[in-house]
Amino acid sequence: MPRACILGTGSYLPPRVVTNDELSKRLTTSDEWIQQRSGVRERRYVEPGVGPSDLAFEATKRALDMAGLQPSDLDFLILATQTPEHEFPGTACFLQKKLGHFGVAALDVRDQCTGFLYGLSIADAYVRLGMYKRVLVVGAEVHSTGLEFADRGRHITVLFGDGAGAVIVGPADVGQASPPAPAGAGGNARATKDRGILSVHLHADGRFAEELWVPAPGSIYPGRITHKEIDEGLHYPVMNGKAVFKEAVTRMIEVSKEALGANGLTPADVTHFVPHQANLRINEMVAKDLGIPPERCDDSIRKYGNCAAASVPIALDERVRSGAVKPGDIVLMSTFAAGFTWGSAVVRW
Ligand code: COA
Repeated sequence: MPRACILGTGSYLPPRVVTNDELSKRLTTSDEWIQQRSGVRERRYVEPGVGPSDLAFEATKRALDMAGLQPSDLDFLILATQTPEHEFPGTACFLQKKLGHFGVAALDVRDQCTGFLYGLSIADAYVRLGMYKRVLVVGAEVHSTGLEFADRGRHITVLFGDGAGAVIVGPADVGQASPPAPAGAGGNARATKDRGILSVHLHADGRFAEELWVPAPGSIYPGRITHKEIDEGLHYPVMNGKAVFKEAVTRMIEVSKEALGANGLTPADVTHFVPHQANLRINEMVAKDLGIPPERCDDSIRKYGNCAAASVPIALDERVRSGAVKPGDIVLMSTFAAGFTWGSAVVRW
């Protein structure tokens, strides 16, 4: 069975930068508290009327461009989000409308910050089966329209940002070059033996579904959402921060080791560690336990906050475009999310 590989990456961050100082005008918080507890310095927010499908569209165009493809080359669209544009249909359908490429399948993945890896596993499986040759996996989030700008929600609000990141997955044809690095970035087009997605490992434990969630609107409430739910603030994210933190560290270490073990790799083989960006302290603890030095560990949370399903593909794209990711490099991705869900993937570039 031929291996699947990443043919191109892309990302898009809305231009509006929101600093911690700006947030402290709307909430009782401070730049010092936010940076010390989470590592976030700033994040991006969309302008009114911009949805996740708009961000996904921009990220997709860039990924297609890197892969040398057109929207009409795509066989399957997978979009992961925890902030869907509407209750239904899925945001992937709104993206498809913007791409102007109709008829191919469009799937929404709802596994929160692990959604990108769930999507990647689906793309990987279809490509290896030979069913599809060009699969889009995009993570896209607009959190800013659903955050509580009041002291009750401040421990959550300060963490999240908006953005999108995409990859195109296709078969690793024998002798095919790695995705091109931008001119002058130091990459090269040397073919790499044995490249591609080496593994994806996924997990979930629904016993913790209510440790991090947005209760409303929902079909469980007559009328989906009423003044009662709104008055109780059930349309805002609710999080047991300490429980999430503890479980995230444990599970991300565990699933990273699972990924390395399955491929006969050690932490010393990891050239790029791209963990989900929920809290810099979580990632520092995970990397330290694994023995991966800080310079190999992505810290884009500082600039973008937690972009949920988009965090990993945004970080990956920035590393690829900077020329940091070279043919033959081992990229380890690992995530933890509401649900709880968690996962890991290893790619040989
Ligand atoms: N600014 C200032 N003070 C704040 C604050 C804010 N934004 N948010 C909370 N506080 C206060 C609390 O009210 C509390 O005050 P008190 O001691 O007077 O009661 C104090 O800071 C500590 O709050 P706590 O929530 O216990 O902080 P923490 O050390 O657990 O850090 C998080 C909070 C959210 C940064 C941390 O729990 C975390 O990162 N959790 C995991 C988040 C995550 O991974 N989420 C996504 C998974 S995909």
